[in-house]
Amino acid sequence: MGFVRHREIQRLGPNMIIRPNAGALDRDEVDVDEPGERRRRMVVVGALGMLGHRVADVARVHGWDVVAIDRPEIDITDLHGTTLTLERLSPTVVVNCAAFTDVDGAEEQEDAALAVNGAGAGNLARATAALGVRIVHVSTDYVLPGDATEPYAEDAVPGPTNAYGRTKLVGEQEVAEHNPDHLICRTAWLFGAGGPNFIDTMVRLADDRDEVTVVDDQTGSPTWTGHLAPALVRAAGSDARGIAHTVGAGQVTWRGLAAETFTLIGSDTVATPVTSDAFPRPAPRPAWSVLASTRSDVPRLPDWREGVKAHLAEVGRLREAA
Ligand SMILES: NC(=O)c1ccc[n+]([C@@H]2O[C@H](COP(=O)([O-])OP(=O)(O)OC[C@H]3O[C@@H](n4cnc5c(N)ncnc54)[C@H](OP(=O)(O)O)[C@@H]3O)[C@@H](O)[C@H]2O)c1
Repeated sequence: MGFVRHREIQRLGPNMIIRPNAGALDRDEVDVDEPGERRRRMVVVGALGMLGHRVADVARVHGWDVVAIDRPEIDITDLHGTTLTLERLSPTVVVNCAAFTDVDGAEEQEDAALAVNGAGAGNLARATAALGVRIVHVSTDYVLPGDATEPYAEDAVPGPTNAYGRTKLVGEQEVAEHNPDHLICRTAWLFGAGGPNFIDTMVRLADDRDEVTVVDDQTGSPTWTGHLAPALVRAAGSDARGIAHTVGAGQVTWRGLAAETFTLIGSDTVATPVTSDAFPRPAPRPAWSVLASTRSDVPRLPDWREGVKAHLAEVGRLREAA
């Protein structure tokens, strides 16, 4: 399956609903007023994003009636518009994959990030609660302080170290406050088709260079969208509530992740370790982003290495013997 990010869809009119579909795009005007219509309908918000388009595709395969929307069909910073849109679409569940995801940009534009990640998430929670429907909201490891040495379980005390993390934490609090039927799924170090990601960057660099320097003092839980999306879809159809950690199992540093990628594509490029000081960035990154999935009522994800392998196979870069 090939996944493409279809930006041109944003030129459609405000009444058009988008349905990204395994690399091709169907443009359907959904007749939400169909009489007697009471199928299980999932509205995926942020469906042009790296995770959102995959969730929509997986949910459709799993038999959901999927309505996939992004800007400009919905602007979650607008409570009134968000409420009207969801009323019109009449979902059974809403999965929120929309976010302001520019981690460094959020340092300078914290208000803009907060409008989407904090208030926007809260607007979706209010609108779904008013309709009496469930919300599954995607959050991040960056809400945690990142100074631990053991994996963070769901009951760890938050303490974001950067602006993006602060805004995402507000989003978690808003969702929990305004819709009791919520599940907040924290994920981390996401990669997958249809969005810029670390693995694809390493593949590109390996094509040009013999050596790449990569930070080795940040450890995390790399997560493939192809593993996360089915877990979110299953969780959407369950009764699980509260906070769940949904990340690839295991842990690795960025350098280790680069080295594994080079091995799996059959490249001789060397991943040389450096400390974070070598790459100063506007937003501080937590040193420890390893999350433990401790809940038995929310699907656990396979090992991160399986995710890297599957992603490289999907984009046609896995070497045959790997
Ligand atoms: N990527 C990671 O490494 C990572 C790690 C941990 C957690 N997460 C979380 O995982 C989720 C999905 O991330 P992703 O990487 O798939 O994000 P993404 O590719 O940046 O997609 C996010 C989508 O949300 C849309 N959006 C932004 N503001 C909106 C608004 N006001 N109303 C409606 N839609 C809006 C974006 O549109 P525009 O492009 O037009 O802004 C984009 O299509 C997010 O909650 C993120 O915080 C991601």
